Order: sequence, then C-alpha cells, then structure tokens
Amino acid sequence: MTIPPLPVGPASIDRQIERFATDIRRLMTERDQALEASRRTRRDALLRLAAAAELKDDDTGVHIVRMGYTSALIALALDCPFDWSERLFYASRMHDIGKLGIPDNILKKPGQLTPEEREVMNRHPELGWALLADADNPLFQLAAEVALTHHERWDGSGYPGGMAGQAIPLSGRIVAVADFFDALTMDRVYRPAFSDERALAMLSDAAESHFDLRVVTAFFIAKERIIAARDRVNDGESPSLADVWKSV
Ligand SMILES: [Fe+2]
Ligand SMILES: [Fe+2]
Repeated sequence: MTIPPLPVGPASIDRQIERFATDIRRLMTERDQALEASRRTRRDALLRLAAAAELKDDDTGVHIVRMGYTSALIALALDCPFDWSERLFYASRMHDIGKLGIPDNILKKPGQLTPEEREVMNRHPELGWALLADADNPLFQLAAEVALTHHERWDGSGYPGGMAGQAIPLSGRIVAVADFFDALTMDRVYRPAFSDERALAMLSDAAESHFDLRVVTAFFIAKERIIAARDRVNDGESPSLADVWKSV
C-alpha cells in the first residue's frame, strides 16, 4: 500500500503552525485556570481555618469578615493600589489564625489572664506566621506579615517584636486599627459593645501612641463606608469591596 505524500505546501505549513499555536494557547489557558483554581482552593481552605480559629474566640465568626472590609477600606483611603487592598481584604481575615494553637482554657478564660497565660496567648502572632510564612504566593505572604505584626504598637510597646513606627509593616499598622475598632464595637462575654461614638473617641485617643496617625486619619476618611460595610455584614450580606468603596 502506498502512503499518500503529506501536503507540504506553504499554505499547509501555515495551517499546521496555526493549529499548533491554538493548542498552545488552549493549554496555557487551561494551566492558568488550574493554577487559579488551586490558589482559590488554598485561599478558601485558609479562610476556613481562620474562621475556625475565630469561632474559638467569637461565637458569630463575623469579626474576621468585617476586618476584611475595614482593613481594605483603610488601605484604599490611604491610596494603596486596589490589588493590594483587595489582597489585604483576605489577608486581614487571617490575622488571628495562630489562635488555633492556643489552648481553649486560656483563649476562653472569662477572667483576667495570669502573666504565664498571657505569655502563651501572646504567642499567637508567631504561631500564625509559622502557619502561613512558607507560602510562595503574595496573598499568604501578606497574611503571614499581618499575623505576625497586628499587635505591634506605633510607640514600640506591642508584641511580639516590640517594633516601632514605620518599622512595622503598613499591613500590620492597618489591621491593628481595624481590629481595635471592631473589637470595641462588638459584644464580648465580659462587656456589651461600645457605641460607635465612644469607640471612635477611644481610637482618636489611642492614635499616635498605639497607632500610626496616618492610618487613623485614613480610618476617619473611610468611616462612613466602614460602618456601612460593617452593618451590611452584620445583616448577612457580602458586598464586593469595589461596591462598598463606591457606595458613599
Ligand atoms: Fe491577635
Ligand atoms: Fe481580631
């Protein structure tokens, strides 16, 4: 049997090259989609872990969701790029993921912690860092930075590093302010929520000593949006960050 010769004219070569290019493009698209899906799965798994850590501390678990909006809105008010602010939207939710490693008898203790218990509790930033830091993607690197530095204070009185001023990464300075306001305005087992007015006054008082004044100013610039987002989250909504930013 004779095999017919392959068509080798210039038009046929062009068609083969075009088919080859189409295959490569399809493979690259599939690879990008698979990478994106795996990134999303990993992000969602860690967000679930963060939610599990939060449930040990807050029965409703929505503190971390509000933290995402508040932190990202502060970042946008500081003119940070939208991409970075959106990354902080997710990363900030993992700020207390290290609490997974804190025993319940300390984490849930209703009264004051002893100095030894406080020492154990204050390990949660480093535990969170250890959980996230080996990751190679920017979201988890930012989450690790936030986990490690959200209890540092502008005047150097925080932990675990006793860092001060600009030496504290901006992400940690932002999340510290968001955490302070949100913790004050939520009900705790040992006290009811403070009013927004009282919490805002307390935030102003703590600015400069505990917090970066520039970050506190950005909080006040975004205040209406932050409070509107918080109320929507408390009502069970999950608006997009872009919508919340454009809303007021
Ligand atoms: Fe914390
Ligand atoms: Fe928190």
